[in-house]
Amino acid sequence: MKIELEQNNKVFIFEGSNKWELHPIWLRERVSEKEHLDKNTEQRLFDPSFLKDIKINKVNIINKLLDIEFSDGVKSKIEIDKIEKEFNSDAFLKDLIKPVLWDSNLEDIKNFKFKDNFFESDEMLELLKSFYKNGFVVISNVPTKNNFIVKFANSIGSIRRTNFGEYFNVKSKPNPNDLAYTPLPLSPHTDNPYRKPIPNIQLLHCIENEVSGGYSTLVDGFSVAESLKKNHPNFFKVLTEVKVKFRFVDKDVVLENVGQLIELDEENKIKQVRFSTRLDFVPALEKEKLDLYYQARNKISEIYNSDKFLIKFKLMPGDLLMMDNYRLLHGRTEFNPNEGNRFLQGCYIDYDSSEGKLRHLLRKFI
Ligand code: OGA
Ligand code: ZN
Repeated sequence: MKIELEQNNKVFIFEGSNKWELHPIWLRERVSEKEHLDKNTEQRLFDPSFLKDIKINKVNIINKLLDIEFSDGVKSKIEIDKIEKEFNSDAFLKDLIKPVLWDSNLEDIKNFKFKDNFFESDEMLELLKSFYKNGFVVISNVPTKNNFIVKFANSIGSIRRTNFGEYFNVKSKPNPNDLAYTPLPLSPHTDNPYRKPIPNIQLLHCIENEVSGGYSTLVDGFSVAESLKKNHPNFFKVLTEVKVKFRFVDKDVVLENVGQLIELDEENKIKQVRFSTRLDFVPALEKEKLDLYYQARNKISEIYNSDKFLIKFKLMPGDLLMMDNYRLLHGRTEFNPNEGNRFLQGCYIDYDSSEGKLRHLLRKFI
């Protein structure tokens, strides 16, 4: 990226083979002298939405500074490095949080070990990079006393409380309000598709696991969706179109939300998967359309559950699994509660936690 001046006080930016003029208001918004910008918060002391018809009366480049005089009388020295950073860091972050799809041959799983000052360490930066790459990470040695999961979540960002509380205890219990609280197997699912908005990231922390079953399972939903798109495009299409209702009911609350099993973004890229066959209610569409939908759901379920995509491992006390609930599906195999205790604690955080921490650590270490 390069900045050059042209006649009539115009500032041009060159990037690759592209060239365009920087808008005077865009530059005026970036004035950062102390009378215009609060140094602690980096927040503006002026309101740029009031600015109209701003022009550049004078501009020079002196020592990597844009020395500018605007038509409203404001004079400023804007660092060209800062303008460059604005372009580069957006692209850098976008690249860093791009998923790398996997199937059950996934290798290269980096293991993390909890230690003092973990959340401010360069190890935490590696953890977040790995989380965005694979959609999950496992951290061992996380203290298992005093609901440490809450501290863990709040040290990355802020815990996302739900009607299950700040955190929830996953163990087999009498009169459960969710099948998670039984010894039954849980086939691959995304959590809480009935919430608005759906929690972004789930943490599951193993406190006890004395049973011989109770293995954890994970599937890369984006990878499965891509495979479906390639091999069964008509199934892929219907799953991106039909909006399914998801519903949770207990004695205190009725939660509902709707969405496709595969949701695409504006560029038709896979944005989010939903799958929870314990609580999905497809609308009563025309029989032919539903025929196709049901075949597609069978197929995607078969792939989600297949050895080609599913990985299986056992969480041991102190292990904490952090996973992307918009990308990955998780589950567990059944267990026999008479063999001993199986006890996990879970909670949610949102992407502003992981992304906010990532930007902070990038600023600190890079
Ligand atoms: C859950 C869940 C998995 C497990 O509580 O959402 O999927 O290993 N639990 O018990
Ligand atoms: Zn779950």
